[in-house]
Amino acid sequence: MAWLDIDGHERELDRWPQGAPGGLLAWDAADEYLVGQWRALAPGAGPRLLLVDDHWGALAVALAPMRPVSWGDSHLGHLALAANLARCGLPADAVPFVPSVDIPAGPFDVALVRLPKALDALEDTLRRLRPVLREGALVLAGGMIKHTPTRAWRLLEQCLGPAPTTPGWKKARVGAATFTSPPLGPPVAPPAYAVPGDQLELRGAPGVFGGGHLDGGAALLLRHLPRADEALTAADLGCGDGILALALARRCPRALVLAVDESHRAAACAAANLDRNFPQPDEAARVTVAVADGLADVAPGSLDLVLCNPPFHQGHAVSDVAAARLFAQALAALRPGGRLLVVGNRHLGHHAKLDRLFGNHELVDGDGRFVVVAATRRD
Ligand SMILES: C[S@@+](CC[C@H](N)C(=O)[O-])C[C@H]1O[C@@H](n2cnc3c(N)ncnc32)[C@H](O)[C@@H]1O
Repeated sequence: MAWLDIDGHERELDRWPQGAPGGLLAWDAADEYLVGQWRALAPGAGPRLLLVDDHWGALAVALAPMRPVSWGDSHLGHLALAANLARCGLPADAVPFVPSVDIPAGPFDVALVRLPKALDALEDTLRRLRPVLREGALVLAGGMIKHTPTRAWRLLEQCLGPAPTTPGWKKARVGAATFTSPPLGPPVAPPAYAVPGDQLELRGAPGVFGGGHLDGGAALLLRHLPRADEALTAADLGCGDGILALALARRCPRALVLAVDESHRAAACAAANLDRNFPQPDEAARVTVAVADGLADVAPGSLDLVLCNPPFHQGHAVSDVAAARLFAQALAALRPGGRLLVVGNRHLGHHAKLDRLFGNHELVDGDGRFVVVAATRRD
């Protein structure tokens, strides 16, 4: 927990989950710079304001009196926004949230955009932003310089219009685009890949892990998914494009599989891949795709198997804090005797976390880069 000071008002903010280890702040200088530029270039309560990919609700809390709408991809970001509004004594509906896969009702006069890590996600967001912007709208896009590739600024100009950038401030930069509806070619179709052994074809989507390619870790884990005729309840924890959930559903014809991700883009991508690969309604009904904070909403002791290729970043920092939290959720959701099957980069040492939580681990497979480790819930 820490305090953000904007205009002499101190606001208490936290990430989601709250109080997580790692000591990462819920805002950065790019948030402060964006709010400062908004004050300089578009003050006043009149214009309709849209916040795009506001990480943990810092922009929303600072600009709540302007009644902005928040449009974002992260469910954890949405949970943080709600918690931070409450913490700052603001009403829950002060800043409504619209998931990235829907389009907020425009038109907007001003948008504040946190530049995402993935440029394909940025281009997709900017393309879908265009129809809800008023001609001449001001779009302030900001990020930390070291995390913002030069191409992000070019994309801003190509998709929206002239976008001079500001001088760097506390290692952050903001581009101020004026929306002029520049002509755009059609978007590039996301790539697809096949997993012939499971008769699957998966299509990627902007901002979704893997980018339309089979991840090396997922490929290693696929070698160890069970084949079983008996009924089975399972979850793919952090499903991305849905590869692990769909392969398991293919191999276990009586399995009920929950595919869950905190990214709205990922869940929509997994749902589209489910439709593409399981056209029969009774087959498709065995897989449920959900947006959630991992297994937080799953009944304790209800699952036989959890598959997890966990995230290895917290924001831009390489970290395994998020993975440890997901493993703890898996332990709670598994029935006694249930198994967690994890793949991860060798150097992350997930086996030690499993030992700590489950009191056991089994090394299943490994290559130069990844290891597959399993743990069993004992009681
Ligand atoms: C390394 S990717 C794995 C994707 C896919 N399962 C695969 O193997 O290709 C990790 C995924 O976990 C998701 N994720 C991160 N934190 C999460 C959370 N708290 N709850 C659900 N999903 C989460 C990310 O959005 C990302 O899609």
